Amino acid sequence: MSYNVAIDGPAGAGKSTIAKLFAKEMGFIYVDTGAMYRAMGLYFHGKGITPQDIDKIKEGCKTVDVSISYENGKQLVWLNGEDVSKKIRTEEIGGLASSYAVVPQIREKLVELQQKLATTADIVMDGRDIGTVVLPNADLKVYLTASVKERAKRRYKELIDKGMQVTIEEIEEDIRGRDYRDMNREVSPLKQADDAVVLDTSFMNIEEAAKALKELFEQRKDA
Ligand code: DC
Repeated sequence: MSYNVAIDGPAGAGKSTIAKLFAKEMGFIYVDTGAMYRAMGLYFHGKGITPQDIDKIKEGCKTVDVSISYENGKQLVWLNGEDVSKKIRTEEIGGLASSYAVVPQIREKLVELQQKLATTADIVMDGRDIGTVVLPNADLKVYLTASVKERAKRRYKELIDKGMQVTIEEIEEDIRGRDYRDMNREVSPLKQADDAVVLDTSFMNIEEAAKALKELFEQRKDA
C-alpha cells in the first residue's frame, strides 16, 4: 500500500518548497499539480482559445497530452511531447493557469491523471483540490497557508533574485486576484478539507514547516 499526503493552500504559501523537502527526506515522489494546470494554460492560450470557448476546450482536451516524468527526483512537465518545465514558471502562466482551471473539462482530465499517479508510489501531492477532490482518502491532508503580505514578500524576493522587475504592490494584487479566483470558482474551489490540518507558515521558515509536516505525518502513520 502506498502513502498519500495531500497539501492544499493558496499561491505562495510555500507548498511546493515544503512538499519537495518532505518528499526528499521521506523518499516520496512529489507531484506538483499546479504545473499541469500551467501546461494547460500555456497550451490553450497559445492556440488563442479562451477559457470561455468551452466547445473548443472540450475538443482540445481530447487530444492535448500533458504528462510528467522524473529526472533525478525532479518533476518534468511535458506538453504534447515538449518539455515545458521551465516555460511554465512565470507569473503570467500562473495567472493563465488560474483562469483556465475554472473549466470543468480541464479539471476532469487532470484529476484523472493525478489519481492514477497516486496509486503508483508513496506521494506527496500539492494543489488546490487535492484533499477535497483528488485524494479524498489521503493518509494526511494539510492546508498550508500564510498571510497575503507574507506570501507577497516571499514571491517578491524570489522574482527579484531572478532579476525580474516587479513591485511588491503588483505581486500583492496578483496574489489577491489569484486567491479570489481559486477560492470562488464553481468547480473544486480551493477550500480546507474538513479533515485537513491547518499549517500557517507566516512565522515559520522552510525547514520548520517541513519538520512540522513530517511530525504530522509520523503521528498519522502510527495512529
Ligand atoms: O500551484 P500553482 O501556483 O503553480 O498553480 C497555478 C494555478 O493552477 C493556481 O492558481 C490554480 C490552479 N490549480 C488548480 O486549480 N488546482 C490545482 N490542483 C493546482 C493548481
